[in-house]
Amino acid sequence: MAEKNIERPGGAESNAPPRHIAIILDGNGRWARRRGLPRTAGHAVGSENFRKIATYCKNIGVEYLTVYAFSTENWKRPEDEVKTIMRLLKKYLGEAIDTMERDHIRMKVLGNIEGLPEELRELVKRTDEISARYDGFQANICLNYGGRDEIVRAAMRYAADVKDGRAPEEIDEAAFGSYLYSAGIPDPELLIRPGGEQRLSNFLLWQCAYSEFYFTDVLWPDFTTEELDKAIAEYHRRDRRFGSVK
Ligand code: IPE
Ligand code: IPE
Ligand code: MG
Repeated sequence: MAEKNIERPGGAESNAPPRHIAIILDGNGRWARRRGLPRTAGHAVGSENFRKIATYCKNIGVEYLTVYAFSTENWKRPEDEVKTIMRLLKKYLGEAIDTMERDHIRMKVLGNIEGLPEELRELVKRTDEISARYDGFQANICLNYGGRDEIVRAAMRYAADVKDGRAPEEIDEAAFGSYLYSAGIPDPELLIRPGGEQRLSNFLLWQCAYSEFYFTDVLWPDFTTEELDKAIAEYHRRDRRFGSVK
């Protein structure tokens, strides 16, 4: 479903929480190091924290929560760290399936699924099947995700459709958006990056065209629902002009 979605209601001026919040889950490694623990211990606490924040988002009426959990660049990390992250993701997705069925939560994995280990691909398939049964709150987990990779893949799929007879001049922003992993999902109004870095690291390059950015030094495993409230309060103070004047 293509939709043009740069400007939408529920924005900074209403009291409603953002409809879609995106979070870069950063700072796990430093959180662990500061406690004299291996980096992987931070990933374990970080994935647990995701559960808490996702439940909170659902309860306050956020419709979509999209988190960056593993980037196309993260394969450059030491093999044992990558292995541990994949193992945690498997454990997490396995457990999440039960929660989804209980709480009627939709969960989508965004990214290059083919590049993931077989067992993870199976779990992704199951979460897709379960999600199809429900509507309401949706959690998106970006795995083996890169913003540029997503755009290039969309262009390739579009080119293939043109080869199959689609008129090239049919492409516009909404049509292009429907080739992205995020097809049918509105753009995030608010993007949060804990962990102290102030960059996108290849996250949602297309979708964040008009998102409000919120950076904090708090590391992801320490990021509480109060921190999320602070980010939302800051979002409500922003003046969203979308290129226009007030
Ligand atoms: C984010 O935490 C998790 C992943 C990228 C998989 P990091 O592992 O990047 O933690 P820092 O940034 O090194 O502290
Ligand atoms: C971004 O964090 C990716 C994820 C959180 C999944 P990184 O820790 O990989 O980003 P850089 O290397 O600091 O840019
Ligand atoms: Mg990091």
